Amino acid sequence: MAEPVSAPAVLLDQDGIQQVVKRLADELSARYDDGLVLVAVLRGSVPFLADLVRAMSIRTTVDFVALSPYAPGTGRVRLVMDAATSVEGRDVVIVEDIVDTGLTAAFLLSELGRRNPKSVSLCTLVDRPARRIVPVDLDFVGLEVEDHFVIGYGLDFDGRYRNLQVLATADPATLANDPDAYLSLYGA
Ligand code: IMP
Repeated sequence: MAEPVSAPAVLLDQDGIQQVVKRLADELSARYDDGLVLVAVLRGSVPFLADLVRAMSIRTTVDFVALSPYAPGTGRVRLVMDAATSVEGRDVVIVEDIVDTGLTAAFLLSELGRRNPKSVSLCTLVDRPARRIVPVDLDFVGLEVEDHFVIGYGLDFDGRYRNLQVLATADPATLANDPDAYLSLYGA
């Protein structure tokens, strides 16, 4: 008999996502009226970045970084693709899908901070402080969540669900048993 699927909860529907994105875009545009370099973390932040940058009303350069764990379970990360844009003397905002342990955010804030930017800060769609290992200052936060695994709008489980239109919680045990357990969210 199939395991029962733990019901997902939609945290933000399409309208809710766009309201959050607009608020963040307004906050960024107000803070950095002289222009900005957005450095987005591949791959989860791509839908968020695409909407965010189009909702902003200031001069903006977009670039990307990709990270990989040093070794499974260590929590340490390394750059596997660097941004091509020079950030020296410029205001920089890192764009993340979710800040969880804070290890990725702390690494990038330190890495980009060493390149003599005018300033470097972080904008995340989701903040999940419950599992934080490294304290990080989050200047721009879309939504704070409890200790739930989150899928959709860029956030994945094993490469799935990035193209969901909504942001939803999912049960990791259910996903481990059946990675496609939440396909019904495509109709949400
Ligand atoms: P960190 O633990 O703060 O370094 O988060 C690293 C990365 O793990 C995030 O940028 C996400 O790509 C991924 N991640 C953490 N929590 C979740 C989640 O709930 N859903 C999907 N991806 C996650």
